[in-house]
Formats: sequence, structure tokens, C-alpha cells
Amino acid sequence: MHNRQTIQELKLSYQQQLANQMVTAVVVLDKQLAIQYLNPAAEALLIKSLNKLYGLTFTDVFLSTALNASCLFDLFASGQEFTNSDVILEFIDGGRITIEVTASSVEFNDQNHLLLEFKQIDQQKQISNEVFQQQQWESARDLIKGLAHEIKNPLGGLRGAAQLLNKELNQDQQEYTAMIIEQADRLTNLVDRLLGPNQLPRMTEQNIHLVLEKVHQLISYDESKGITLNRDYDPSIPDIIFDEDKLQQAILNIVSNACQVLDHKGSITIKTRIASNQTINGKRTKLCVQISIIDNGPGIPFHIQDTLFYPMVSGRQNGTGLGLSISQTLIHQHQGKLSCNSRPGHTEFIILLPLTLTNNKEKLS
Ligand SMILES: Nc1ncnc2c1ncn2[C@@H]1O[C@H](COP(=O)(O)OP(=O)(O)O)[C@@H](O)[C@H]1O
Ligand SMILES: [Mg+2]
Repeated sequence: MHNRQTIQELKLSYQQQLANQMVTAVVVLDKQLAIQYLNPAAEALLIKSLNKLYGLTFTDVFLSTALNASCLFDLFASGQEFTNSDVILEFIDGGRITIEVTASSVEFNDQNHLLLEFKQIDQQKQISNEVFQQQQWESARDLIKGLAHEIKNPLGGLRGAAQLLNKELNQDQQEYTAMIIEQADRLTNLVDRLLGPNQLPRMTEQNIHLVLEKVHQLISYDESKGITLNRDYDPSIPDIIFDEDKLQQAILNIVSNACQVLDHKGSITIKTRIASNQTINGKRTKLCVQISIIDNGPGIPFHIQDTLFYPMVSGRQNGTGLGLSISQTLIHQHQGKLSCNSRPGHTEFIILLPLTLTNNKEKLS
């Protein structure tokens, strides 16, 4: 039998230990929303130590999302605990995690505090979301391709007929057939672009930085006047197998967009890294080459964020909305993935290309 004293001691020691052992991340905030405590699971989830974060307020660390200062202050006022199962936490210094959060008010040392419990959402959910987006993108692309095919054939006939007619007409009337031919050519051009890249890739083993340097050179000629172009390369990245022209086109489309959005003021960074344990189209990939194109422009317009990679989705007045869709197709042909994180002041397009060590087998042996 335990006496009262030992039970009390046991309880205290469990209480002290438990928070340290829990899988759930626990964050305690005071009335000003200043961080007072993180358990080790929270330090791991936020990738920062209590020493670093102690005393900082919620808004010093996180950008405003569904979980923000005003809803936390509301909780203080009402005492009404809440749970939200799909919240994105965005860090001020970049990065985001999807979590389930429970927020409640608790009393410590006679003072009201907020207790936040975070659970990272299953990666499986994120993956299935990605696969869903991918399927949506593929069906939009197929629909447009089908439509483009249907337009292309009669368009050829139309142009041919106008050419024949042209021979029968006097000079004044030929103006009209010339217009038909010109407009038919313009449409054919558009339809060809809608059909997307149609050559088979020509794969060679090369250093990825060669392509990035070419893009850099092309952009420096005129598009980037007034824009600072930074390069942040990891020179240790081994050669991989890819089609130089296609990858160049894919990256150029992304960098050109950034240039257009920045409109001669701002900066673009092209960054390369090795990334490990990424999922590409639902498949876990051990090692990848990661190419990021980052700009400090206004961010992707909110209303096109979900359909950004679909063909014919554009936020510009005279844009065709084909650039990113083509980039996506080209990167897919390399078994890679193109994604985007964007908020005002920071837009990052991320290309992941699988790095299979068999690529370098000959070099290694
Ligand atoms: N870096 C960026 N910053 C902000 N918006 C962007 C960026 N890149 C692309 N966008 C938006 O995505 C849209 C689609 O781009 P894209 O597919 O290349 O078509 P287009 O350039 O013809 O509009 C652009 O119109 C623009 O609104
Ligand atoms: Mg574009």
C-alpha cells in the first residue's frame, strides 16, 4: 500500500515526465500569446528549441492562417475550447506543416494560459491529396488535348481551302483570304501549344547546373532588367539523366513568370539541393535533386492557386496560361514533380527529380 505522501510524489514525478514523453506536441502561451513552454514533441515538430522560442509571441513565429491571434484571443475571452482538424501552420521564416489542433484555456500559477496541442496530419493524407490533384490535372490536360485535336484537323482544311480560293480572286479580294490564312495560322499555333510537347525525350547524363546556367544566361539578356538574380547551387549534386532542352524549357517558363510578376524590381533565386525521402506522385523516393525558383514578388493570385498548373489558367491579362502546364508535363516526362508554395513576398516553385544511384553506376564502378 502506498501512503498519501508517496502517491503525491509519484503524481508529481509523472506529471513532470509525461509532457516530455508525449507524442502530441504541446505549446503553452500566456495572455499576450507569448510562448511559455514547448514539450520535446513540439520542439521536434516546430524544429526549434524552447530556448529559441521562449517569450516570442505567436505572431512572431507564425503567419496568420486559420489558427491566428484573433481566434486565440477569442478563446481567452470565451473559454470555449476548440479543435480544428486541418490547419496549416506557416512559419514566418518559411516552411509549413499541416496539423490537427486542440486549443483550450488552462490555469497555471493562478494565471490564465492557452494550451495548444498539435498533431501532425498523417503524411498519407497529404499524399492522397497530391494524387487527387494530379488526377485532376491529367483529366484537364486530356480534355484540352482532345479538344485541340478536334480543332486542328478542320483548321488545316480551312486554311487549304482559303489558299485555293486565293488563286481565283482578284487582288482586292485576296485581302480577305490572306486574313483567313493568317488567323488560321494563329489558331494552329495556339492549338499546337495546347497539344503540348510531342517529341520523345532525348535523355543524356549531365550536370543539372549546365541547364540552370543556360536559363540564367537567357534571362539576363533582357527580361531581368532591374531584377537581382541569385544562384545558390550545391556543387556536389551528381550528374543525372535528363533531356536538356525540355528541362530548360520547363525551368525557363517558371523563371519567366517570376520576371513578369516582378516587373523589373525584386529578386529571383535559383537554388539546388539534394533532398531525401520525398514523395513523388505518390511514390516514396529516397534521393532527389531539388531545384527551387524563389521570388519575392506578390505571390500567386489566390483565385488560381488550386488550378495553377492547369492549361489555360492565367492571372495575367494577355497570358495564355500554358507556361506552367507545359512545365508540369515536361517534368512529368522526367518522373519528377513540380509544386509551388506561395505567399505575398515569397513564391517558391520546387522541382524534384529522382536521383537514382544507378544513374552513376558506370562512374562508380
Ligand atoms: N512567380 C509567380 N508569382 C506570382 N504569380 C505567378 C508566378 N508564376 C506564375 N504566376 C501566375 O500563374 C499564372 C499562370 O502562369 P502560366 O501558366 O505561365 O501562364 P501565363 O504566364 O501565360 O499567364 C500567371 O498568369 C500568374 O498569374
Ligand atoms: Mg507564363
